[in-house]
Amino acid sequence: MLNKGSSSLIPMVQISGLAKDYSNFTALKETELTVPAGEFLTLLGPSGSGKTTLLNLIAGMAPPSRGKIVINGRDVTNLPPEKRDIGMVFQNYTLMPHMTVFENIAFPLQIRKVPRAEIKRRVTEVLELIRLPHVAGRKPKELSGGQQQRISIARCIVYKPDLILMDEPLGALDKKLREQMQLEIRRIHSELGITMLYVTHDQEEALNMSDRIMLMNGGAVEQLGTPNELYFQPRTQFSADFIGASTLLDATVVEAGEPAVLKLKDGHRCRATLHEAAPVGTAGKLLLRPEVVRLSKQTAAEPGYNMAQGRLESTLVTGGTSKHFITLDNSATVIVQELTNQEAERIQPGTPVTVTWPETAARFLTK
Ligand SMILES: Nc1ncnc2c1ncn2[C@@H]1O[C@H](COP(=O)(O)OP(=O)(O)O)[C@@H](O)[C@H]1O
Ligand SMILES: [Mg+2]
Repeated sequence: MLNKGSSSLIPMVQISGLAKDYSNFTALKETELTVPAGEFLTLLGPSGSGKTTLLNLIAGMAPPSRGKIVINGRDVTNLPPEKRDIGMVFQNYTLMPHMTVFENIAFPLQIRKVPRAEIKRRVTEVLELIRLPHVAGRKPKELSGGQQQRISIARCIVYKPDLILMDEPLGALDKKLREQMQLEIRRIHSELGITMLYVTHDQEEALNMSDRIMLMNGGAVEQLGTPNELYFQPRTQFSADFIGASTLLDATVVEAGEPAVLKLKDGHRCRATLHEAAPVGTAGKLLLRPEVVRLSKQTAAEPGYNMAQGRLESTLVTGGTSKHFITLDNSATVIVQELTNQEAERIQPGTPVTVTWPETAARFLTK
């Protein structure tokens, strides 16, 4: 069967000191990365952060300036792409227009001289897997964008590569189809157990799909971890800002301890559990995720909670959830996200409001 299994102890990808320079510009700084077999790893980052560069080096589309790439225990650093046993799917479906769907998917097997009966069996099998058995006889232009992209994926999994690389494969699709395809790719990944390296600049897509996310910034790894770790334990302001909605308030440590006391720009004090050593006087940003901040009618803070006064700027209701934008007295804006309460009377913009958040729910980030 197609299943590659994922119990192997050898990592599927092992990268050490890998870097890429262009004349006097470094597109990828020395990078270390180990991807266990069967993992779905996403390279996430803004445009120009080096995602495609790293993927192309792994695929063998460009030679590295330094470093080593080992795939499934084999040093492939100096091997051409076709000797690496890697499948690739790009944003623009690169199907051959004059061939039928069946012929497109069969093509990589023909190159590998697989016998005809075997080709028929395997193409039929992957067409079932992507749930498009009825389009085998059509030409690519007779298919929707989403269908064409599924065929590109089928053509790539049909020869059972050890590793599949996808570079923004859903970038050309509309939002609804993207979400369907995210589920589809996840399903194919878990059914086949193939290792996936997936590139996107869309943080929501990365959070939806990945076992782990490698967040990239300026040609370097900013943070590598599970979606939960990146969302709940960002290590830098860049990570906090790039993943999820966030409020980042300027703050300085004024009293050490558990929790420590921080001073916000206007002199307002709050307590926060510090996750890294930060002596008195350290300046940084206090991260508040919108869902940990609450609007409150209280006049005194409860134990374990911080409290701040502000003014409601505006409210955005997106169906079941509402976002309130609140300007604190220190002129910073805090976002409060709640489930929409249809019974509640809408607070008018300009109204003074109080917000609270747990001392343990904020993170102080020094860089
Ligand atoms: N062939 C090239 N020559 C010079 N610079 C390049 C080349 N390819 C990519 N770059 C630069 O390397 C950086 C990283 O590019 P890339 O890996 O494509 O980013 P991403 O995929 O994250 O958007 C960018 O600043 C880009 O302009
Ligand atoms: Mg790119």
